[in-house]
Amino acid sequence: MALDVAALSACTRCRLCETRQRVVIGTGPHDAKLLLVGEAPGRDEDEGGAPFIGRSGQLLFRLIDEEVGLSRAECYVTNTVKCRPPGNRVPARDELDACRPWLEQQLGDLAPRVTLALGLTAAREVLGATLPMGRIHGRARHLGDATGLATYHPAAALRDPALLDVMRADLGVVRALLGSP
Ligand code: URA
Repeated sequence: MALDVAALSACTRCRLCETRQRVVIGTGPHDAKLLLVGEAPGRDEDEGGAPFIGRSGQLLFRLIDEEVGLSRAECYVTNTVKCRPPGNRVPARDELDACRPWLEQQLGDLAPRVTLALGLTAAREVLGATLPMGRIHGRARHLGDATGLATYHPAAALRDPALLDVMRADLGVVRALLGSP
């Protein structure tokens, strides 16, 4: 089923609707080769209405430009939940479950070559990952007709710059996957 943008924009399926300013749906071309899935909108995204427009996003898209050679405008970008959790806490299980049908509708509209989960919440929701990020990052796995992999969330690399090299290496895997026939 195609994404019902009007219904999602008015969604009240979980408590996050009570504190959000904007529903942050996703941005990018529907024929994007690379799909990026983060955790949840933060303050900047809640105000601006688009995913990854704050500091994390600036870092993310600099790394993607340098390591993959794609611009933000060439990627489809979304999150596991579409509304900001208060204080930027991790989305609760019932919030993730309430938002899941929206994510599934959205994924149904896209046909990426590679899906990159950013952080453990996205890795669990999109890839079904069960192990810690240290064990799973950069490892390609089948995801329907696409290839899925995970890397650290850019916010983690802002806190711990040692992760930058790890993210760069994982993005090198993305580049190789996109470049292969
Ligand atoms: N962090 C996320 O996971 N997603 C955003 O859109 C912004 C910050």
